[in-house]
Amino acid sequence: MTETTSVPGMERALPFDPYAYDFHEDPYPTYARLRRESPVYYNAEMNFWALANHADVRAGFRDVQRFSNSWGVSMDPSAYGPDAHKSMSFLAMDDPKHMRIRKLVSKGFTPRRVNDLTGRITALTHQHWSKCLDMGEFDYVHDFAALLPMDVVSELLGVPEADRTDLRHQSDLLLHREDGVLDIPEAAIYAYIELHKYYSELIADRRKNPGEDLVSALIEAEIDDDETGEKIKLTEDEIVGFMVLMVVAGNETTTKLLANALYWGGRNPDELAKVFADPELAVPQWTEETLRYDNSTQIVVRRVVEDAPYGDYVIPAGDRVLLLVGSANRDEEVFGPDADKYDIGRDNGQALMSFGLGAHFCLGAHLARLEANIGLGEVIRSIRSVDIDIDRAVRVHSVNVRGFAELPVKVTVR
Ligand code: HEM
Repeated sequence: MTETTSVPGMERALPFDPYAYDFHEDPYPTYARLRRESPVYYNAEMNFWALANHADVRAGFRDVQRFSNSWGVSMDPSAYGPDAHKSMSFLAMDDPKHMRIRKLVSKGFTPRRVNDLTGRITALTHQHWSKCLDMGEFDYVHDFAALLPMDVVSELLGVPEADRTDLRHQSDLLLHREDGVLDIPEAAIYAYIELHKYYSELIADRRKNPGEDLVSALIEAEIDDDETGEKIKLTEDEIVGFMVLMVVAGNETTTKLLANALYWGGRNPDELAKVFADPELAVPQWTEETLRYDNSTQIVVRRVVEDAPYGDYVIPAGDRVLLLVGSANRDEEVFGPDADKYDIGRDNGQALMSFGLGAHFCLGAHLARLEANIGLGEVIRSIRSVDIDIDRAVRVHSVNVRGFAELPVKVTVR
């Protein structure tokens, strides 16, 4: 028999504040308690629900009927740009409209198109990493991890190299705001407008001079409308929305993955030794285990549009639900009693929640893995050892994203 809310007293069982700095420093003890004591958690003060178990997070991702994306998927929707829910980003849309755009966008985002980037990603990695090797001592985030993903997204979209520094700057302004502050900083609004303007001009140019890039492919892509049977194409706003989403979804997440891998490798020298010993085999495993152990996307938010029974409760329509991806990835029921151990040899199978699941499954998952494997492969093959200055590492404090703003390192070149 299920209860309906308001779940008196439930929130007192375990105070979980996703904005708390100590939670950001190490969220995993809180996740473990949530899984043990309140796997379906309600916080009355902040009025949100959270699902902590792997099975419930999985079900939440699949529950597109009752769980909506259309208010945005971050704790503070402004992270996805002003008025994200009204923007043309298809991540913040529900089916059937979401699926219509996703189908079109996927056409320009096929495994072949992504694999074709291998040569460019390798060259870009080499370009940035060789400068780091020359320095010997540097900030791994600033000098490497933050550069590669934005370059790759730009490469995919066909953004000329000369424009990328400015674009990276706008993307930083758009993303870096203080959590919990709902007013969007002026700089972020300005950056959003600038990005919008830049991408509109790029589209206009590609209409006149089509190339081999994704934007040209998106301008051309068409599908049959399920209802009318007519051919449909993406609108201008939908293409711009997609391009801004690429910056938001594909940039910071992959930057954090590159740095989280090095950090946890450095904290687990026995595991890193396996990577040094056999990079070909172990680099992809290193990437996979980092995605599980400390994923850059920790929390994805949904809005309930129909009463949803979970565990012993019914989450009422209108409420927010946090899908705790980072907790699902440490669930002992799925990953075994040593789920808290960083072990690059483990087989995560299909159980990873790191890229979401179902209708909104990350479109860039293959690209993110490719970038990480090429980037981390180059790093490990070119050095004999790495010292991470853990005391000077600076964490990003964010509800949704986990990783470092600064990671000072010293490497010994091979
Ligand atoms: C969606 C994670 C890299 C593009 C998602 C979602 C997650 C995620 C969890 C699902 C969100 C939801 O269900 O609401 C990650 C992680 C990454 C990564 C952890 C890197 C480590 C990328 C890259 C790109 C990308 C490199 C593209 C350049 C997208 C897009 C969606 C998405 C377009 C929306 C799909 C849809 O709504 O149908 N990502 N992502 N992501 N991601 Fe990624």
